[in-house]
Amino acid sequence: MADRKPRVLATRLFPLDVEARLTASFDAILNPEDRQYDGPALIKASEGCDAIMCAAGDALTAETIAGLPASVRMIATFSVGYEHVDVAAAAKRNIAVSNTPDVLTDATADIALLCLLGAARRAHEGTTMLRTHNWVGWTPRQLMGVHVTGRRLGILGMGRIGQAIADRARAFRMTIHYSNRSRLPPELEKGATFHADPDAMLPHCDVLSINTPMTAATRKWVNAERIAKLPKNAIVVNTARGGVVDDEALIAALKSGRLAAAGLDVFDGEPRIHKDYYDLENAFLLPHMGSATVDTRNAMGFKALDNLEAFLLNGKTPPDLVKAS
Ligand code: DGY
Repeated sequence: MADRKPRVLATRLFPLDVEARLTASFDAILNPEDRQYDGPALIKASEGCDAIMCAAGDALTAETIAGLPASVRMIATFSVGYEHVDVAAAAKRNIAVSNTPDVLTDATADIALLCLLGAARRAHEGTTMLRTHNWVGWTPRQLMGVHVTGRRLGILGMGRIGQAIADRARAFRMTIHYSNRSRLPPELEKGATFHADPDAMLPHCDVLSINTPMTAATRKWVNAERIAKLPKNAIVVNTARGGVVDDEALIAALKSGRLAAAGLDVFDGEPRIHKDYYDLENAFLLPHMGSATVDTRNAMGFKALDNLEAFLLNGKTPPDLVKAS
């Protein structure tokens, strides 16, 4: 083992307990003001560093990775999604990349259900009516939403998070459909209907939940043509990545009433989201908070640290090594 602690650049202000372990294990460069680095600033700040602990929203593009100092041997992202890290560019530089799978499954599935129910039951309109002092009292026609019990939920991407959403939706007696690269074994499928072709699933989705990673193939996958295949008055829920949705198409369908509502926790280009979302009463919007519980954010940080420690302190392969696809 080296006689100095490896130096790790933390690109964000991470949870207290995570930073406590980070500084105990490593010579850590922290970011107490939580200023987000752009590419050139990141290259400069990582001078002399062995690794970078980054997060969703840090753009580690091919260009930035090419410019990183030779000392950088690892990038550990504090996220399960890693589309913000150009893994192929990192592989070219022999830089290992790790992520934080599993630990945010339940928290993200919970938020998906919040989005589903918030959209179906017009939660945005209800809270706005109340907080703007416009509630006249209970009336028989007030805020009538979409009944969820017994409806069909189509899950695009049946990985860990998709499966956890299905488990929760079964408690609402929803019927589960899913599309995934491969069919799940019966014990994980639990009676859900598999669609090898995701387009063929769309007519069966009273609610479509997007749980697929953001890749070149899924970019703007939910477009006007596919929205037209959903049943009228369907609901779209997105807790994966905003880029999977074509905002113009979704907004048009929400404005026209073709879709009943949407529940969105993630947005293309966040935090600068498409401005029309702000005025859509039938959009229940959250600021990318799927993993935002104390337990989950700590677990994500500890997982990132498990990976950094394995690689930098123990000379082992990071347990959550990400490979270029
Ligand atoms: C992730 O981990 O990919 C999330 O989107 C951040 O919470």
